[in-house]
Amino acid sequence: MSAPPSAAAAALYSFPPADLMTLGVYYYPEAWPAAQWPRDIANIRKLGFEFVHLGEFAWAFLEPTEGAFDFAWLDRVVALAAEQGLKVVLCTPTPAPPVWLTEKSPEVLMVDAAGRRQRHGTRQHACWNVPRYRSYVDKIVHALGRRYGADTRVWGWQLDNELTHYGKEPCFCDACQDSFRAWLKTKYADIGALNRDWGNAFWSQLYQRFDQIRIPNVQEFPAQFNPHAMLDAQRWFAGTAADYLRFQTGILRTYTGHRQWITSNHIHHFPAVNPALNARDFDVVSWTLYPVHGNANRGPLGFRLGDPSVLGFAGDFMRPLNGQHGIMELQPGQVNWGEVNPQPYPGAVRLWILQAFATGAKFVCTYRYRQPLSGAELYHQGIVGPDGVTPTAGGMQFSQAARELAGLRAVATPGAPPPPAYARRQAAILYSYEVRWDLDNHKQNKDWDTYEHLLKYHRALKRVGAPVDVITEEKDFSAYPFLIAPAHQLVDAALVARWQAYAENGGQLVLTCRTGQKDRRGQLWEAAWAAPIHDLIGASIAFYDTLPSPHRAHVSAGGESHAWSTWGDVLAPRADTETLATYADQPYAGEPAAITRRLGRGAVTYIGVDSTSGSLEAQLIREVYARAAVATENFPEGFSVDWRDGLWIATNATEQSHAAPVPANATMLVGTREVPIAGVTIWQEPETRPKMHRKGE
Ligand code: GAL
Ligand code: ZN
Repeated sequence: MSAPPSAAAAALYSFPPADLMTLGVYYYPEAWPAAQWPRDIANIRKLGFEFVHLGEFAWAFLEPTEGAFDFAWLDRVVALAAEQGLKVVLCTPTPAPPVWLTEKSPEVLMVDAAGRRQRHGTRQHACWNVPRYRSYVDKIVHALGRRYGADTRVWGWQLDNELTHYGKEPCFCDACQDSFRAWLKTKYADIGALNRDWGNAFWSQLYQRFDQIRIPNVQEFPAQFNPHAMLDAQRWFAGTAADYLRFQTGILRTYTGHRQWITSNHIHHFPAVNPALNARDFDVVSWTLYPVHGNANRGPLGFRLGDPSVLGFAGDFMRPLNGQHGIMELQPGQVNWGEVNPQPYPGAVRLWILQAFATGAKFVCTYRYRQPLSGAELYHQGIVGPDGVTPTAGGMQFSQAARELAGLRAVATPGAPPPPAYARRQAAILYSYEVRWDLDNHKQNKDWDTYEHLLKYHRALKRVGAPVDVITEEKDFSAYPFLIAPAHQLVDAALVARWQAYAENGGQLVLTCRTGQKDRRGQLWEAAWAAPIHDLIGASIAFYDTLPSPHRAHVSAGGESHAWSTWGDVLAPRADTETLATYADQPYAGEPAAITRRLGRGAVTYIGVDSTSGSLEAQLIREVYARAAVATENFPEGFSVDWRDGLWIATNATEQSHAAPVPANATMLVGTREVPIAGVTIWQEPETRPKMHRKGE
């Protein structure tokens, strides 16, 4: 078969729409006796999985000594998988360099903030910016590509594994210091420009030459860091990660073309590495998700069900990056690395699988097949237990989901347009890693939580029943009837003009607190506070306030009271705005906290407060829809109803059952009208069913 010419064609080729979503599992043949491989692979198939994921940590087995490759064992497992009809996902094993490599070239080991060189013994201890490391990577990736890049049994590739240093980033090794300086030189050309953009007149921080600069390291500073330097370092670091993934992609592509897809499994909530930067390199964007690991999360059962807005937000972010996304690792049961590792709620694993389905995922893969008997992940459940054969509760839920997906394939209408009432609610949330870094670099209140601020708006949108895309700045805003830019702190004139045009042309624009305060360098405007957005929102911002915990202030909106403490902008509106919320207490009681105005054929709403629970956000987003005369649902938080491929999917991650809005003439496909805790109900409306199924109705 000849290679599809483009990534877009490859997407259809690799992920035929009729397959809807495919389930897979991680397997580590290198860690189990070869005599057990046939049994394990056969059981993986029997449980209903359709692909197996291999090799992301297997470098020491693939290249046991320098330049001597051993693929015999992997060939055998690929053959066993193919015999069972399982597709194979192979990985580049670059998060886990063998000991011979780091022994011979210790300069490839990363250096942490305390100046300590990391050692062999876990993973992600090598620095991808060290040219010597890249040359080792180059060889192993070429060898894998040569061996498997045209192998039709291999479906796709994962590069590396959760590319990061697991919280120890950035690396401070000499190669990184050089790389940062080179990046700065390219960006600024002359040191005067850097001094200006970093505000280096402050505290006499002026540099004379680029070679005087080091990557900002809080461990090396007695006082607060320079936020402009930090922001550039974050840009540089994320850029190097993206460049490294592009480097590996480039090698593999020479063998695979687009016959096999390429991705990496990003950590979705971890902002140091930015998946958006590789959206054009990959055929599919994938990510890892562990909803339950001891955080209280939201609601009485959050610690067993996870926070559905996290899965929803991440899926809604990954999907629009290039149109294809999948979850590469979904928690199969109890994990071992949280501070507390409770049992997920019965049925929660299946709930997550089908929530991922509702976000449009092309695949869900789970980590891992067998519970390990040794190593750092003891106690981590798998699809089968420590005996290697008995399915766990999570394993049985994967099986159940596999059967249900098979049933859905028979009746879905892939590619069908969404029902009009649903499409009219389509919203986008604008999300920028740079903005997030800058907010987190200087929060002004330790309780300010940028991710949580975004999630409050995602939850508000799911409560009105809106489909949501979480989009980056380069996307076309006009595709969305509703656009929310939460706390979009860094702006320029061009972005503000795009927002203005969006609203004038009929868009419903919502901006929230902290938006527009700074330029792209992270500097304040030499003008009134947040001056660039004043004309747009129809108000100036008199000042903002923030309160220490446990103090709470209140705003009132339409007779409802909402607590807040982290951020409140006190607004000074002009005549053509309407006030939606006012401060109920504090020295500025009675002043506006949220306003709205018509602009051209659309409207602009500014919500200046970050409420504690998100209740204000939920109320005001509902109000935005009402003013736009778009009909909404009124779902409880954590109960979501989504549409995909002609199917309605209700998922319940709350602590009580809820009725799904199933019309009387609908066909029930999965579950019941009353959706129990952790339950899922899927139905089809008559007009979306394929014609052949209409016969005899
Ligand atoms: C992931 C990681 C896997 C495994 C898993 C355990 O973050 O990518 O390799 O460690 O956690 O839950
Ligand atoms: Zn480094």
